Amino acid sequence: MSLVVETAPAKINLALHVTGQREDGYHLLDSLVTFTERGDLLTARLADTDDFTLSGPFSKGLETDGGNLVIRARDLLRDAVQAAGGDTPPVVLHLEKNLPVASGIGGGSADAAAALRALMRVWNATLPDATLATLALRLGADVPMCLAGRPAIARGVGEDLTPVTTLPSLNLLLVNPLKPVSTPETFRRLARRDNPPMEPLPSSFALTDWIDFLAGQRNDLEPAARQIVPEIGFITTLMNLTGARLACMSGSGATCFGLYETREAARAAERNLRSAQPGWFVQAMTTVSGDEP
Ligand code: C5P
Repeated sequence: MSLVVETAPAKINLALHVTGQREDGYHLLDSLVTFTERGDLLTARLADTDDFTLSGPFSKGLETDGGNLVIRARDLLRDAVQAAGGDTPPVVLHLEKNLPVASGIGGGSADAAAALRALMRVWNATLPDATLATLALRLGADVPMCLAGRPAIARGVGEDLTPVTTLPSLNLLLVNPLKPVSTPETFRRLARRDNPPMEPLPSSFALTDWIDFLAGQRNDLEPAARQIVPEIGFITTLMNLTGARLACMSGSGATCFGLYETREAARAAERNLRSAQPGWFVQAMTTVSGDEP
């Protein structure tokens, strides 16, 4: 295959509990993650020489060399495929950056995972799942979950994944005040690192059961992120005022998600918040359901 396109969806932490810390400083998590249907777009095309180009509303200032996780993913995968005897001809990569960077919704990790998926296809490569998962983890703690791209409980530092097949598709509104947040900085500001894990997940597909469950869970990084971006509190208030059944921050922030009962309700809230806050990223998004193949 000479041209492939992969979506790099937003990763949403519906709940994120920080339950401990490893000796190397990384934090132990118990998190429920899901993924939107749309996101950044990563294109890979066989060519005479390697290249990497960017476009899209959030591409400004992004690096196009080894400082970009997409290029690190390409180089690591190329080494692994070559070591396994595979062919890795030059490839032109293009990233359409539609989601804000440093915003708690996967960002570079999702792009790196999409690059791995696209390159596996364009190089027609085969690697054991375990090799690919190890390689993904070397790129970042969130890359394995982004590679899977399905609803899951993420434990360990994020790499220990258990699929959640009962999570329904959700109608979300994503809002970011366009203030980037440094993940290490948010973790550094944590007041507690030994919080209790999530409660047992609902076993039903019913949205109301999931809303009730999520209302009792937390994002332990939210208080720390609010110190850096005070608007987070205002965003969740606005979401509640526009009918969200639940409003919470994702990842290390500052993107917040509002959960609405219908797609129409999420779209109406999108219109309201866009006109009230034209300088913010405001996007209604549907998430994948856990029972899709
Ligand atoms: O793995 P990644 O490079 O995405 O992580 C960025 C930073 O976020 C790490 O250097 C670490 O400071 C912090 N982090 C953490 N615990 C995690 C994931 C990330 O402390 N589980």
